[in-house]
Amino acid sequence: MLRGAASLSCSSSLSCLCCARRRQSPVVDFPPSRLTPGRRPRGCAVVRRCSVAPSAPWVEADDESYGNKQVISLTPSLYRYILSNVREPQILQLLREETASLRGSQMQVSPDQAQLLAMLVQILGAERCIEVGVYTGYSSLAVGLVLPDSGRLVACDRDLRSLEVAQRYYELAGISHKIDVRHGLAMDTLKSLIRDGEASSYDFAFVDAEKRMTEDYFEILLQLVRTGGVIVVDNVLWHGKVADLEVNDKKTLSIRNFNRRLREDDRISLSMVPIGDGMTICRKR
Ligand SMILES: C[S@@+](CC[C@H](N)C(=O)[O-])C[C@H]1O[C@@H](n2cnc3c(N)ncnc32)[C@H](O)[C@@H]1O
Repeated sequence: MLRGAASLSCSSSLSCLCCARRRQSPVVDFPPSRLTPGRRPRGCAVVRRCSVAPSAPWVEADDESYGNKQVISLTPSLYRYILSNVREPQILQLLREETASLRGSQMQVSPDQAQLLAMLVQILGAERCIEVGVYTGYSSLAVGLVLPDSGRLVACDRDLRSLEVAQRYYELAGISHKIDVRHGLAMDTLKSLIRDGEASSYDFAFVDAEKRMTEDYFEILLQLVRTGGVIVVDNVLWHGKVADLEVNDKKTLSIRNFNRRLREDDRISLSMVPIGDGMTICRKR
């Protein structure tokens, strides 16, 4: 069951798309505590929604220089719709369902995220991939399924019990010959790849492990991927905490700082995508 905000009734004089169509008024419901009536801080986003139709709220950049650009905001029903449009292979569905009852199941990427990862691998024509943070294997299985038979995915995780589930599904899917499972600390594995002369030889990497290590993983993965290769980093929006300057715990700070440094990093081109908990796609220049 998906959880989220219930729809609100329209009561404001501000306009929104669905209300404009019906000549009614929407409600401003976020972030009410931070808004001075009639005046919003520059760059602040406003979420508006209306109860006339079961449509999603949308977010508007309140900075005039963005031309009041309106962006869709997910609701449970809209997310359900997105999920219903994912082509999830049956083996991934089975793994997702088995993982759902396990501790840490919320850690696995969502089906729409896995589909994006697989799509990137296919667009790149990737043959050599690395995953940092395998858990029970959902994202690695999605990638492994679209790799050519000659492809290889180095799958790093320190948790043997999770890896056992992952390996069982690689077998079931008939792709275990493409997956090089490395049990242990991911940084040790990545360093061993460098020592083995594999720098600049990988096409694609996905980082989804210990968040405070993300920057270290990124640096070593940047050595391991070739020019034009892609590194995808998960959880860059960190449940939205990165945008709340009142939240300053160590993990949030490290992700917020990492995001800022990535944006300033001219070794890569990048795109931050609000999918799942936020993913940044980095292409090595
Ligand atoms: C968010 S989960 C990965 C989810 C996975 N990508 C999926 O879609 O199912 C993070 C995983 O990283 C692993 N991990 C955390 N720190 C690690 C480290 N230092 N070395 C290796 N694995 C680590 C954990 O054991 C856990 O399985």
